[in-house]
Amino acid sequence: MRTPFSQITITPKRLIRSIYSQTSSSSFIPKPLNLYSQSPLIRSHPQSRNTSFASALDITNEEQNGSLNDALKPDDFLFWPNFFTNEECKVLTEMALWKLDRIDTSLKRRRKGRFTPKLDDEAENTDEIQKLFDREYGFEEGHYDSVIHQYRETLLSSLPPSPSSSLTSSLIKLYSLLPDLPIDNLKQEEIPPKGTITHLLHLSPKGEILPHVDNLQASGKFICGVSLGSERTLRLQSKDKDKKEGWDVRLGNGSVYLQRDSIRYNYEHSILPYDSEGSVWDGEQLKPGHRISIMIRDTPKRPAEL
Ligand code: OGA
Ligand code: MN
Repeated sequence: MRTPFSQITITPKRLIRSIYSQTSSSSFIPKPLNLYSQSPLIRSHPQSRNTSFASALDITNEEQNGSLNDALKPDDFLFWPNFFTNEECKVLTEMALWKLDRIDTSLKRRRKGRFTPKLDDEAENTDEIQKLFDREYGFEEGHYDSVIHQYRETLLSSLPPSPSSSLTSSLIKLYSLLPDLPIDNLKQEEIPPKGTITHLLHLSPKGEILPHVDNLQASGKFICGVSLGSERTLRLQSKDKDKKEGWDVRLGNGSVYLQRDSIRYNYEHSILPYDSEGSVWDGEQLKPGHRISIMIRDTPKRPAEL
């Protein structure tokens, strides 16, 4: 007989430590949701099959003799819906825009006139974070073979000069979530920590990320994503073309997710456009607006170290 998931200890030691211990930013890290959690922010996909996490596994159990049961653990995807406060979101967005704007050559040409992004009336976002996006940005269209469309991206290789204490503590709080980090109590000068690669990704209001698995050579075992600004749907979908099962996750401002193991390797992930069928939550379409994600990955081990 299959062990019910509720009886499986799913949280790795390291994570238990970081979730329940006090971080140097003096705040407790809340307990994350996983794909098994009952939450209005996570739903199975496609919905017509009514595949809750447990029933999805029941189906594959019958079909695969339980092999996937071992492979797909509920905590292969962890989700903290309100990880950052509004103030922390603001500080992180400002930092990301500062980094991104420095390398945006089209922006330099346009710097004189301050543009407000022109969205249609109903699309006009008036919330605090959206106000920070006050330029007309030079987004990459994304080539025919690329998965990301309408975006700007840069690496976060160091902090901006004289970072505020709220920026430093927000980043320490974030990096403390990562599994197997070599350092326990991060200091400002250790951000970003060795062994990790941090990207800042700005999606335009019309941007999207098509289904993909992150490059196996370029990144390691986990992918951590912070969402700032406009809400978007993250879709996780089995790579197995016959069973397109998966989940849709509503990524709000200040949320953080962590994908690894089978979700990282056996599922494709995508960020749906705001006006897609999967971007309707509680009967309402998500609003268009700018979104920034902070993506943290571990550097892949070289073959000799594997
Ligand atoms: C990526 C990606 C997801 C996100 O950059 O590869 O999948 O949440 N990003 O922005
Ligand atoms: Mn990706």
